Amino acid sequence: MTSTCKAIFITGGGSGIGRATARHFAGRGWMVGLADVNEAGMAETAAMLPAGLSSCHKLDVRDRAAWDVALGDFAAKTGGRIDILFNNAGIAAGGPIDVAKPDDIERLFDINLLGVFWGAQAALPYLKAAGPGAALINTSSAAGLYAGPGMSAYSATKFGVRAITESLDQEWREHGIKVRAIMPGFIDTPLLMGTSSGSNRTIRESVQEAGLEFTPVERVAEAVWDAAHNAKRLFWPVGKTAKRLAFLSRWAPGLLRRGGLFGRDAASD
Ligand code: NAI
Repeated sequence: MTSTCKAIFITGGGSGIGRATARHFAGRGWMVGLADVNEAGMAETAAMLPAGLSSCHKLDVRDRAAWDVALGDFAAKTGGRIDILFNNAGIAAGGPIDVAKPDDIERLFDINLLGVFWGAQAALPYLKAAGPGAALINTSSAAGLYAGPGMSAYSATKFGVRAITESLDQEWREHGIKVRAIMPGFIDTPLLMGTSSGSNRTIRESVQEAGLEFTPVERVAEAVWDAAHNAKRLFWPVGKTAKRLAFLSRWAPGLLRRGGLFGRDAASD
């Protein structure tokens, strides 16, 4: 592969949003580095991409040293070039704080927040060298706009991703690197099959019971593309629920906290 081919490195590339984004970029001739702890999932994604346009990198985003190895291996295949890091790997965990298990919460913060930070740090030399068009895209969430009951830890990680995004976009302006956050509503991926602590219901079931919509995963991939190519906008809500939360959290936060995301969250002011 020559350095004329643009290159994106995608964490969580073995499933869901990462997979859809890999297909979107590879379909436009980009070289895609897939990174995940799930090797079978990555192989499945790679099989969906045009021949010769992808490579797989086993990476646990919590491991700072492993980031250097994975990005170095990918760069060796792209002629040294990495234009975009899509910092997307993540897990879901929720439930009331009194039943939250310390190990689960630590894992959540390590993957969703620290993993994003390590990725940004490791990718900076490549993004600096990539020149115009270089971008760091982070996956936040609609949960980074509104934190309902049972979402304290997950939302803290996704609000945190927003903070990293806002700060680095300014810090890296001098290098010409854009930093953007994608904030999807509900996307029907394996992530939604998880249950919250203290509940038997999957997140997917809660969404369905509340009559909320699932946004097609391809919309998220399109948003990643648009965000990477947009000069100004920092935050990218994707889908009806996320756009509604973006509006309400800005203009009517009290109303939002009274009504809640599922129409039955605890009341506040
Ligand atoms: P998914 O479960 O389909 O994919 C997540 C991928 O991340 C999996 O392949 C998993 O193996 C990988 N992963 C987990 N821990 C890892 C680690 N330590 N190192 C490397 N890879 C790891 O889930 P989905 O929906 O594609 O999630 C992607 C991102 O989107 C996550 O950050 C999630 O929080 C976020 N998100 C998802 C929404 C949804 O409704 N599905 C809504 C808003 C945000």
